[in-house]
Amino acid sequence: MKTFQTISGLRSALQPLRNEELSIGFVPTMGALHQGHLELMRRAKSENDILVVSIFVNPIQFNNPEDLEKYPRLPELDAHLLETVDCDFLFAPTVEEMYPEPDHSNYDFGVLGQVMEGAFRPGHFNGVAIVVRKLFEITEPNRAYFGEKDFQQLAIIQQLVKMLQLSVEIVPCPIVRESDGLAMSSRNMRLAKEERSVAPKIHQILKKAASLKNVLSPEEMRRYVWDKLSLEPAFSIDYVEVADDRMLQPVKHWNEVGGAVIFVALFLGQVRLIDNQRIF
Ligand code: PAJ
Repeated sequence: MKTFQTISGLRSALQPLRNEELSIGFVPTMGALHQGHLELMRRAKSENDILVVSIFVNPIQFNNPEDLEKYPRLPELDAHLLETVDCDFLFAPTVEEMYPEPDHSNYDFGVLGQVMEGAFRPGHFNGVAIVVRKLFEITEPNRAYFGEKDFQQLAIIQQLVKMLQLSVEIVPCPIVRESDGLAMSSRNMRLAKEERSVAPKIHQILKKAASLKNVLSPEEMRRYVWDKLSLEPAFSIDYVEVADDRMLQPVKHWNEVGGAVIFVALFLGQVRLIDNQRIF
C-alpha cells in the first residue's frame, strides 16, 4: 500500500493507472476503522482493479467541537487493517491540504437535507457534500462505496451525484453489526462498559418494531420505538422516524410508499449513536 498526504501525489500515482483503463474503487472514511469499513473495502477491491481509501476527519462536518476533538484517531492500527484488505492507495491529507482556503460552497438538498440528521446537525451534510465532492475530484473513481448505516448520508451523496452529474457510480452497502446487533461505529469505542452493554437494545427494539408492520400504523410504530427506548434511562433520544426510503419523509400510510425505514438517533452518555432498520 502506498500512502499519500498530498493531492498532487495521489493524482500523479493514479493518472497512469487510469490511462491503462484500470477501474478505481474508492472508500472515503474518517478512520478508526472497523469491520463495517473493511466490508466496503473488500467489496470495492473485488469489483475494481484498484482500491483507494481516504482517511480524513473532516472538521467542517462536525457541528459539535467536542465530538471533533474526541473523534478517535488510530493511524497505525488503520494502516495495518488496510493492508489486510489489500488496499492499494491510502490518501490521508492534512486539514491544510484539503482546505487551503475556507470552502463556502452551499448545497441545497431540499427536503432530504431538512429532516433527521439535517435538522439535528445543522451544516453537517453541507460539510459532507463539500468533502466528498473534493475527494471525488481528486480520486476520480469509477465506483464509490457507502454504508447504509448512514442511510441519509448515502441518499444525500446519491442526490449530489445526480445534481452535479458526476460520473461516479455510488454503491450502497449493508450495515455491518457486532454479534449482539449493535451497528459498528468508530464512536462505539468511546462507550463506557455499562453503556456498551445497553447499546444493543437499539437494534433489538428496531428489529421487533419492524416485525410488527402488519399490526401497527407508521405513527404507532414510531411511538412503539420511542416508548421502548425511553424505558432505558441511559438513552437520551434525538429522534425516531418512520420514513420512506427515497426522500426520507415521514410515512402516513404503508401503502403510499415503495419502501420504509425506521431511523433512530440518540445519546448514550456523551456518545451520539444512529441506527436504522428497513421495514420493507
Ligand atoms: P465514516 O463514519 O468513517 O464512515 C465511512 C463509511 O463507512 C460510510 O460510508 C459509512 O456509512 C460506512 N460505515 C460505517 N459504519 C458502518 C457499518 N457498521 N456498516 C456498514 N457501513 C458502515 O461517513 C463518514 O465517515 C464521513 O461522513 C465521510 C463520508 C468519509 C465524509 O467525511
